[in-house]
Amino acid sequence: MKKILVTGGSGFIGSNLVNYLIKKNHFVINIDKLAYSSNTYNKPQNKNYKFFKLDINNKNQLKKIIEKYKPECLFNIAAETHVDRSIDSPFQFMHSNIMGVFNLLEVIKNFRKKNKKIKLVHISTDEVYGDIKINRSNEKYPYNPSSPYSASKASADHLIKSYVRTYNLPAVISNCCNNYGPYQFPEKLIPKMITNILNNRPLPIYAKGQNSREWIYVEDHCEALYKIFKKGKIGESYNVGSNLNLKNIDLVKMILKIFKKKGFKLGKKVKIKFVKDRPGHDFRYALNSKKIFKELKWKSKTNINKGLNNTVDWYLKNKKFIRSISKKHYSTRLGLKI
Ligand SMILES: NC(=O)c1ccc[n+]([C@@H]2O[C@H](COP(=O)([O-])OP(=O)(O)OC[C@H]3O[C@@H](n4cnc5c(N)ncnc54)[C@H](O)[C@@H]3O)[C@@H](O)[C@H]2O)c1
Repeated sequence: MKKILVTGGSGFIGSNLVNYLIKKNHFVINIDKLAYSSNTYNKPQNKNYKFFKLDINNKNQLKKIIEKYKPECLFNIAAETHVDRSIDSPFQFMHSNIMGVFNLLEVIKNFRKKNKKIKLVHISTDEVYGDIKINRSNEKYPYNPSSPYSASKASADHLIKSYVRTYNLPAVISNCCNNYGPYQFPEKLIPKMITNILNNRPLPIYAKGQNSREWIYVEDHCEALYKIFKKGKIGESYNVGSNLNLKNIDLVKMILKIFKKKGFKLGKKVKIKFVKDRPGHDFRYALNSKKIFKELKWKSKTNINKGLNNTVDWYLKNKKFIRSISKKHYSTRLGLKI
């Protein structure tokens, strides 16, 4: 059993990673400030789980927790994550995604001065590479972020690399494509469509739905993160992708088909509705993930049909999850205040 600290362990990917690590019999410490997107509906009930409600910018408390538990690994998943929100209110993104990471790095740097071992696995995104109109971006591809969100994530990646180079801080970065699965907050595309179908509401799609994203089932991402912790080389970045790109419109049509196949009677208002595009909207993200395939022998396992079916089933079985979230956090269109 290893002691593993997860920051942001109450968010979408964090909730899945915490469950994954507990299943692997590790002792998991979760630090999360419990922002609007946190899951408070289904918390792990396990003696090998500890939770602290804390902002990663709180240096003193963070230091105390790390010194008390001496985790072997710190997965940094805490971040502000919604691009549209970053357009309207960028400050919080800089605060959590840049200053929060700087704070973590300083705490880890000082902890290591006492000869303590700890590996930082930082979770980043494919959005740092910007719009990939053709081919796929590998880890050497230049960073070219387009939104305040992706720029804050790109900044954190640079900061981490500088700490590896200057202070020998043992950190690894994963740049993952779009995740989907249980516990995702309904402001994001897939759970938004599912929630609107369940509530007989129109299905808003930006522009004409031609934008393309690469999709990975969240459990596959958790497995990749675990591999990166175990085998990832310090100072390296690993793209984590499935190689499967879909246009938004095609993805939404797939979800509708799944509901119909399950015998779900679609309400009259459940219709695709094209809405105003996001300012600065990247047309396509696509990762070249050959490095993790070859060097860490990891590949995503879940095909999109199976993953989407599991996801729809989870939301159908866990309607309380949606009911636990205040509608004001996901029913208004954001990101148009420019
Ligand atoms: N969801 C995706 O498709 C995707 C893809 C690639 C990378 N990522 C990255 O994965 C990470 C998690 O994404 P997610 O979709 O699970 O997000 P999420 O919004 O569901 O969860 C983020 C969690 O971080 C917490 N948090 C935010 N700021 C914090 C702070 N300052 N201190 C403590 N806790 C804080 C929130 O309370 C929340 O519980 C992010 O770093 C994101 O950039 C996500």
